[in-house]
Amino acid sequence: MTRNSLSVTDNRTGKTYELPIEHGAVRAVDLRQMKAGPDDFGLLSYDPAFMNTASCRSTITYIDGDRGILEYRGYPIEQLAEQSSYLEVAYLLVHGVLPTATQLAEWRWEITHHTWIHENLKKFLDTFHHDAHPMAMLVSAVAALSTFYPEAKNGADASMRHLQVVRLIAKMPTLAAFAYRHGLGMPYAYPDNDLSYAGNFLNMLYKATEVKYQPNPAVERALDVLFMLHADHEQNCSTNAVRAVGSSQADPYCSLAAGVAALYGPLHGGANEAVIRMLQGIGSVTHVPEFIRHVKSGEGRLMGFGHRVYKNYDPRAKIIKRLAEEVFAVTKPNPLLPVALELERIALQDEYFIQRKLYPNVDFYSGLIYRAIGFPKNMFTALFAIGRLPGWIAQWKEMIEDPETKIARPRQVYTGVAARDYVPIESR
Ligand code: CMC
Repeated sequence: MTRNSLSVTDNRTGKTYELPIEHGAVRAVDLRQMKAGPDDFGLLSYDPAFMNTASCRSTITYIDGDRGILEYRGYPIEQLAEQSSYLEVAYLLVHGVLPTATQLAEWRWEITHHTWIHENLKKFLDTFHHDAHPMAMLVSAVAALSTFYPEAKNGADASMRHLQVVRLIAKMPTLAAFAYRHGLGMPYAYPDNDLSYAGNFLNMLYKATEVKYQPNPAVERALDVLFMLHADHEQNCSTNAVRAVGSSQADPYCSLAAGVAALYGPLHGGANEAVIRMLQGIGSVTHVPEFIRHVKSGEGRLMGFGHRVYKNYDPRAKIIKRLAEEVFAVTKPNPLLPVALELERIALQDEYFIQRKLYPNVDFYSGLIYRAIGFPKNMFTALFAIGRLPGWIAQWKEMIEDPETKIARPRQVYTGVAARDYVPIESR
């Protein structure tokens, strides 16, 4: 008869242990009973980049990296991108179910009516240098929200949690748009409650002298879809940062600021900006083979390719590639597109990339769309942050509500020197 357990023999002692398997995992803490002697602390598992460690149980997002599947609360990303909207997806991620028409209308109303930020926060943004990176501004501004809403510390109160969730989703585009206009030296454009979430964001970015800003519907929809595609991705680097900081019971603003900081890096959300820099560096289709040689010799990475979890085409990249065609139909042709297409064509046939299962990820084409819409490169990752926000919030909320949650505190394998006596400075 088969048993749902793992039998392990510790060859140091000859003892055999039986570890229960639940949901395809053994508990790392079950290893601690395996001791080489009475003073031994017990066996640890060593996994520096969480390559094979589940840090939580979650009901939010499912990814099958080998088959290229991504689902939010069980709904395939392709169906959501086609039929849903960003705010509906945000509701789904945070509440676990699709809203009814009334619930969606209330949710939209709440979010629309919390988009303004305190004037002092605006002054805070003014103090940044003119060329401050919008992501660094966003990290600081999201943390600064904590100072305006100190009641957010009361994580135990569900209605209080809900209010912070709404504020965060509502204010993030305002902060990102203000960071953008600060860089241009333009006066801030205030939110317009008549517009959709994405439409209002475009308004805050681009409104000039017109009385009423009218977003281009194709661009507005493309942005909404891009936000949806980025909305959650289970335990990625930034989500892990949100959960780790949140596990200390820091308020949601400070916890999410940690997520924004983690997203900034070029191996994570910063890759969309890095892709455009790479394409500009390559310059033309004729230079692509040389660039590929350079990557294969280990001198650089093909940005926008590869993923820790996807070992097949990233399903988000497929949708974005189609979306790009729709956006390019209403914007100017992008001279970098042929370079990207050639890079993808060559990489997908090359043994180096095939063997390592390196396929385009979400960031490979998103930057080209952002560029076509008119965003400067340094705003790309801020757009990713707006999209990822409901995921961070849903994961933070799930962590707070999980009775198994404890402060995140990994162990280490100490490899330093053994205890020794302090040497006075005159004797060194
Ligand atoms: N270009 C060239 N070689 C690569 C690349 C790449 N983009 N990605 C991985 N490799 C190689 C790597 O050199 C290694 O080769 P070898 O076995 O010969 O040493 C092998 O593939 C495995 O790479 P790894 O670094 O061990 O894989 P990882 O799971 O630790 O890294 C990754 C995942 C996304 C950080 C990495 O693929 C990468 O740096 N990609 C480029 C940056 C990027 O596009 N990031 C966005 C990720 S998707 C959006 C998000 O979630 O933020």
